[in-house]
Amino acid sequence: MKVLILGGTSEASALASALAERSIPTLFSYAGRVTVPRPQPVPTRVGGFGGVAGLSAFITEQRITHLVDATHPFAERMSHNAVVASQRSGIHCIALTRPPWEPMAGDRWTRVADVAAAVNALAGPPQRVLLAIGRMHLNAFSAQPQHHYLLRLVDHPETPPPLPHHSVTLDRGPFSLDGDLALFREHGVECLVCKNAGGTGAVAKLTAARQLGLAVVMIERPASPPRQEAHGVDTVLDWLGHDAERGV
Ligand SMILES: NC(=O)c1ccc[n+]([C@@H]2O[C@H](COP(=O)([O-])OP(=O)(O)OC[C@H]3O[C@@H](n4cnc5c(N)ncnc54)[C@H](OP(=O)(O)O)[C@@H]3O)[C@@H](O)[C@H]2O)c1
Repeated sequence: MKVLILGGTSEASALASALAERSIPTLFSYAGRVTVPRPQPVPTRVGGFGGVAGLSAFITEQRITHLVDATHPFAERMSHNAVVASQRSGIHCIALTRPPWEPMAGDRWTRVADVAAAVNALAGPPQRVLLAIGRMHLNAFSAQPQHHYLLRLVDHPETPPPLPHHSVTLDRGPFSLDGDLALFREHGVECLVCKNAGGTGAVAKLTAARQLGLAVVMIERPASPPRQEAHGVDTVLDWLGHDAERGV
């Protein structure tokens, strides 16, 4: 048995720790989006594989028997490639996922389908907006240049985004409620734009927005491919355990 974890989430890190504790041979993969990725207790590689063909070749070369897609729910291409490459290679594949967040009493969410719709939802008078969406789609918000954008990022942007009024706060999850309340107050945040990631590591901002009565523009998830899913590390361990009993 040799497991390949496609990472980039706190759930992926938790799974790597669980497999390391059990001495299950494991390789961990990062896309390489941040300068200093979180260290893992298992051998780690960084960078794209080169599409489905590259991932299939990697699976063969490394004699991978089990693929766990523990990427972020918005990592649409990687998840698609994982399903197709594992089918082509004839190996077992499961996605470690987390249910989406649902609004609670007191929430002021506008639910939108994608980043373009989030930009449209910001039409109106200037506000102080926290963009907690990572760095990939910041440029789209130049269509609503009237706002002041606070960008929460892991690394400083290499080139400043084309947003006339913006500031940057550097941090990485998991985030705390006290920390997010302090951030919102310090910057006078009036509106939060975020992705419906689910999980616990980034949920504090939603609790903070609720407590402060702030508007939230919630970008809903892209559709995931048909696949086997587990909602927790224990379920992945069970899945691996059943195969081990069968001698895979
Ligand atoms: N999207 C988000 O909002 C978000 C938020 C937090 C963390 N992340 C993490 O950041 C990474 C990139 O996300 P994305 O949205 O850019 O993904 P994506 O659009 O689905 O993937 C684009 C390409 O990046 C490479 N890639 C993605 N994840 C990889 C991994 N774990 N290991 C090796 N290569 C990987 C693959 O390149 P090849 O085709 O060359 O193999 C993939 O085709 C993921 O690991 C994800 O878990 C994403």
